[in-house]
Amino acid sequence: MIASSATGSAAGSKPGLRREIAGVSIADLAEQYGTPLYVYDADTIRRRCRDLAAWDTIRFAQKACSNLAVLGIVRREGVLVDAVSTGEIHRAIVAGYSPHAPREPGPDGLPPAHPIVYTADIFDRDSLDVVVRHGIHVNCGSADMIEQLAERMPGASITLRVNPGFGHGHSQKTNTGGEGSKHGIWHEEIPEVLRRAEWAGLQVSGLHMHIGSGTDLAHLAEVAGALERVAIEVGRSLTMISAGGGLPVPYKPGEVHADLSGYFTLWDATRKRLEERFGHRIRLELEPGRYLTAESGSVITEVRAVKRQGDRKYLLVDAGFNTLARPVLYGSYHPMSLCPRDDDARNATEEVAVGGPLCESGDIFTQTDGGFVATRPLPVAAVGDLLVIEIAGAYGFVMASNYNSKPLPAEVLVDAGAHRLVRSRQTPEDLVRGECV
Ligand code: LLP
Repeated sequence: MIASSATGSAAGSKPGLRREIAGVSIADLAEQYGTPLYVYDADTIRRRCRDLAAWDTIRFAQKACSNLAVLGIVRREGVLVDAVSTGEIHRAIVAGYSPHAPREPGPDGLPPAHPIVYTADIFDRDSLDVVVRHGIHVNCGSADMIEQLAERMPGASITLRVNPGFGHGHSQKTNTGGEGSKHGIWHEEIPEVLRRAEWAGLQVSGLHMHIGSGTDLAHLAEVAGALERVAIEVGRSLTMISAGGGLPVPYKPGEVHADLSGYFTLWDATRKRLEERFGHRIRLELEPGRYLTAESGSVITEVRAVKRQGDRKYLLVDAGFNTLARPVLYGSYHPMSLCPRDDDARNATEEVAVGGPLCESGDIFTQTDGGFVATRPLPVAAVGDLLVIEIAGAYGFVMASNYNSKPLPAEVLVDAGAHRLVRSRQTPEDLVRGECV
């Protein structure tokens, strides 16, 4: 087990206080780019990519954080990409990914990997057009996609996303397995789906299972056996298996990183048994989203009001659930630190609830599942201080919205002590573009 190092305040400062992100002054970032602001630390992303080097392919689930600069970092680390929409295919291509796999096996003798894979439970009309135009590999989550693809891309090879009949996530809303989930092809339907693929002239070259997001290794470990059973039904056409994503990251104090070497060993053994059975090499993929970017990202927001409601004290900041939706959606916990505007010591801490600017009671960052307002011990804050909401680099900006006609925040990348804007803040004009009176 590796101890969590990303939560809480920066080394050397007082608990709950933080003045820098990756060596750059938080006050300077707020001054230069305004708030609320997403900031990503490039080194943390690289470190997380390298943690997973044992896998043949790391395929980034870009839905977690699809800024082009982030895609550029993971691409240069040799990480491939998953796309769930026309927009994500477009982003991948603009970030420098080729739509096509190399024709020949690599020096490792493994079958070539597709740089971009479209994984979804439907083709909308746009995405089918784009997949066909670029020849993108498809991971089918519903059997109806087979005939739709075959008609437009005869003879294509496909991957099947299988729902193994069980799932688990950090929230019921992120559980993607079992009867309660719309995702994947039901495991008992595989023989029928294989007949449909054969009839349509498509080759099933891979299998994929993703049981949920932010789950734990105990649940994830059950997937290897389930996938192996389905792989045996599919047979020798298989050249790739994917363990999906879902790797947990530590958000709360005391949580630690999971031991990933044991997880790889389990999947590697599964792959080797299948290689033995089929008599050829099989590529082993992992499809993390959160793991690669969550810890790299922070939201810098400014305290704009401090008030009491009865016995409870509230800090109201300029970020809301339009900026970071995870607390209102799932009751998710994000660590927070205060960056005072002045050099005061701020020795005292107090219990506060932290909320945003939106006209909605649920606009609270310190809430538990079900919408109950909780409090957090934070150094005593004043209007004008900055609050850093941490571990916000996955499902943060990508789930931000224009609710209350608030502009999407800017995004900044910090790399080797330098910082640059990688997405501009929206303007009032952006908010009405395309509308008419
Ligand atoms: N593969 C597939 C097919 C997925 O649907 C997902 C996530 C992933 C991989 C990556 O999962 P990860 O490694 O990030 O756990 N908005 C929620 C998470 C929704 C995840 C959707 N699918 C949150 O903020 O927690």
